[in-house]
Amino acid sequence: MKIEKARKEDVHDLLKYLEENEKVTFLDFFKKRVEYYIDNGFILLVKEKEELIGHLFFQVKENINLGVGEIETVNLLEDYRGKGIGTKLIEESVKSMKKHFENVGVKPRCVYIMTRSNNEIAIKVYEKIGFKKQGTIGKIYRDDQPEELVMAQFF
Ligand SMILES: CC(C)(COP(=O)(O)OP(=O)(O)OC[C@H]1O[C@@H](n2cnc3c(N)ncnc32)[C@H](O)[C@@H]1OP(=O)(O)O)[C@@H](O)C(=O)NCCC(=O)NCCS
Repeated sequence: MKIEKARKEDVHDLLKYLEENEKVTFLDFFKKRVEYYIDNGFILLVKEKEELIGHLFFQVKENINLGVGEIETVNLLEDYRGKGIGTKLIEESVKSMKKHFENVGVKPRCVYIMTRSNNEIAIKVYEKIGFKKQGTIGKIYRDDQPEELVMAQFF
């Protein structure tokens, strides 16, 4: 298993992964988004013998001077969950984000992530890494799902 930054050559496999495993539609829109994230080094991929088995997208929020980043999505194929890979992937993204800020002379402040408040496994993973619950912010994505919970790690 290896974790690496996504490159342009990964776009096809990543879009296929998103379509097949996360039911993403509007692939043309996603392609542009993925390319922008790749240009900025904001996507990490997990590969097992060159096969894509998971990904993580992060993003610098608002004014870069604030030193705030968000982990937007993290997903592993079912067969690879519960083996410590998610922990490594999230830790790696936090390191990458801090480095991104430090490279431009900004003191990193925090990284946050939103998850559905009933996603107990994800919450455990984030807590294990050092994220703390900040509060729920309502059903911002869907009415038929529990509220979104914000978790953050301050540096
Ligand atoms: C959330 C996700 C990325 C976590 O990655 P993972 O590799 O499965 O997690 P890890 O194996 O690193 O587990 C870390 C901790 O989480 C908890 N955990 C993991 N799997 C668990 C399970 N099935 N049941 C209970 N606790 C679990 C444990 O506390 C574990 O630490 P421990 O092994 O020291 O006890 C992954 O499970 C996933 O892709 N889930 C589906 C998509 C998703 O929910 N994404 C998050 C949306 S915001």
